[in-house]
Amino acid sequence: MKILVTGREGQIARSLVEQARGRPNIVMETVGRPELDLVKPESVMAAIRERKPDLVVSAAAYTAVDQAEDDVDMALTVNAGGARAAAKAAAELGVPVVHLSTDYVFSGDKAGAYLEDDPVGPQSAYGRTKLAGEVAVADANPKHVILRTAWAYSPFGRNFVKTMLAQAQTRSSIGVVCDQFGNPTSALDIADGILHIARALAAMPSADKFGIFHLAGTGSTSWAGFAENIFVESRSAGGPFAAVQRISTAEYPSKAKRPANSRLSTDKLARVYGWRAPDWRLSCADIVRRLVQEAAPT
Ligand SMILES: NC(=O)c1ccc[n+]([C@@H]2O[C@H](COP(=O)([O-])OP(=O)(O)OC[C@H]3O[C@@H](n4cnc5c(N)ncnc54)[C@H](OP(=O)(O)O)[C@@H]3O)[C@@H](O)[C@H]2O)c1
Repeated sequence: MKILVTGREGQIARSLVEQARGRPNIVMETVGRPELDLVKPESVMAAIRERKPDLVVSAAAYTAVDQAEDDVDMALTVNAGGARAAAKAAAELGVPVVHLSTDYVFSGDKAGAYLEDDPVGPQSAYGRTKLAGEVAVADANPKHVILRTAWAYSPFGRNFVKTMLAQAQTRSSIGVVCDQFGNPTSALDIADGILHIARALAAMPSADKFGIFHLAGTGSTSWAGFAENIFVESRSAGGPFAAVQRISTAEYPSKAKRPANSRLSTDKLARVYGWRAPDWRLSCADIVRRLVQEAAPT
């Protein structure tokens, strides 16, 4: 099976490449700028058409959450127009598209974990453009699997785990928000989930396998809880650590408003696909250990 991923250097694209390595019958190919530029739908269509994949993973996106507040047109062009083009190209080839979306489509007002069909209510420009992307993808390709994920981290690119470890190199105490709750999710687990979905679709592309699904780490915490866990694991692996000072959202102003609770229920994915991500603490421990080892002098 040939899987084509949009974006080369993104956390999820790189995780897909790593997790597919050595797996028989999977060819994982990535394509990014300049050949595939989400701002230019014709480049997206051409890049996908030429490569004739069996499945498209639409992972590239405008992901700068705060910057999007001042750059709405560009974020919308990329996250809705670009996503639509990728889904449409897949539809023309008659193949499914797996499109990555976000917990930030929700308002954060719900007390429990969000279900796929709960009302959306994005609080930020990024969330609104990603929601427009979901609508565009569903409209362009009936064979769509929209995966809402959250709080992604990995050994690659920029993410919360790497930021915490870097800050702990120079600071003994770090203020981290303790009143926003979500599911930390390893991009390597997201990649495993996507590979599972790809195999299931190839085996039996039944109607129930298409639609919106939540794919996130099992268990939830606050950003402060996440940071504390990172430092426990890093310390035990001989890496940097710091004390976490629990602060409120009000004490950490940011341009884009984040949902206070964006915990995602992953029961639908487990029910339909028989797959659930590991407990977030296990995956967090693996990645922190790996980052500490990679940073150690040889
Ligand atoms: N990270 C999270 O916490 C999180 C949470 C929920 C959902 N998601 C979603 O998951 C997906 C992947 O996230 P990620 O963490 O892997 O993102 P990422 O690391 O920020 O990577 C984004 C990728 O998109 C590419 N890109 C941006 N603009 C482009 C354009 N105009 N044309 C082509 N490529 C473009 C970037 O290319 P360059 O390398 O060239 O810049 C990069 O490869 C996104 O859809 C995101 O919305 C992420």
